[in-house]
Amino acid sequence: MPWLEIKNLMAFYHGIPVIHGVSLQVGRGDFVSVIGSNGAGKTTLLRSISRLVTVKGYIGFDGKDLTRLKPTDVIKRRIIHCPEGRLLFPNMTVYQNLMMGAYLLHDKEKINSGLERVFEYLPILSKRQTQLAGTLSGGEQQMLVVGRAIMGRPKLLTLDEPSFGLAPLMIDAIIDVIQKLNEEGLTVLLVEQNAALALEFSNFTYVLEEGQIISQGSSRELAEDPAVAKAYLGMT
Ligand SMILES: Nc1ncnc2c1ncn2[C@@H]1O[C@H](COP(=O)(O)OP(=O)(O)OP(=O)(O)O)[C@@H](O)[C@H]1O
Ligand SMILES: [Mg+2]
Repeated sequence: MPWLEIKNLMAFYHGIPVIHGVSLQVGRGDFVSVIGSNGAGKTTLLRSISRLVTVKGYIGFDGKDLTRLKPTDVIKRRIIHCPEGRLLFPNMTVYQNLMMGAYLLHDKEKINSGLERVFEYLPILSKRQTQLAGTLSGGEQQMLVVGRAIMGRPKLLTLDEPSFGLAPLMIDAIIDVIQKLNEEGLTVLLVEQNAALALEFSNFTYVLEEGQIISQGSSRELAEDPAVAKAYLGMT
């Protein structure tokens, strides 16, 4: 049974649809990616799940419909979104930003065990706890976004282009953490323009073009599909 199930999704800005009937599934424990170029609708898809845009269709998580929920109710179901552009609070410290990720939790023990988990996976954040988030490097900021998400005790982690603008070594470090979290059971939905990265690390991939899924399959198979290789991996 799918853990996240999206059926015939349409998403709108000012009444104009930009997602046109997308259906996709993410099983419990899966690492699924959605690849697509600029403006394909990747961010809108994740914002639909987080209930930040107007939608039609069905978005179910663990058998329950999310479409009528408020964004905070989605977070309460522990679907945690790492937004595009690393939206942090730049004038707050690393520690304070992490605590923002736990703002719906009231149990001190859960918060403390979350912090321990973050520092175990992302030791750099432990060293930078008192530093202002705005003074971190791009890679460290992305780590903080992931750390903040972990503080929300996600069941499903959605990631919007975590590799964007980062040096290759930093991308490796980030994907390594995501992969470890997935191996320990966290369900991951990644949207990426960096198709090579997404295809390498996810189990299953959907290709999104102009708000529609044009192809889908196991990531290994898709990476070998000549049409995908040509359009998304720059191969001729
Ligand atoms: N706030 C908005 N108001 C109106 N149109 C929008 C808005 N945000 C996005 N769009 C449009 O919706 C479509 C999908 O955009 P979206 O940001 O989801 O794409 P994306 O795949 O995330 O692109 P990118 O790789 O550049 O981040 C685009 O045509 C875009 O211009
Ligand atoms: Mg985007």
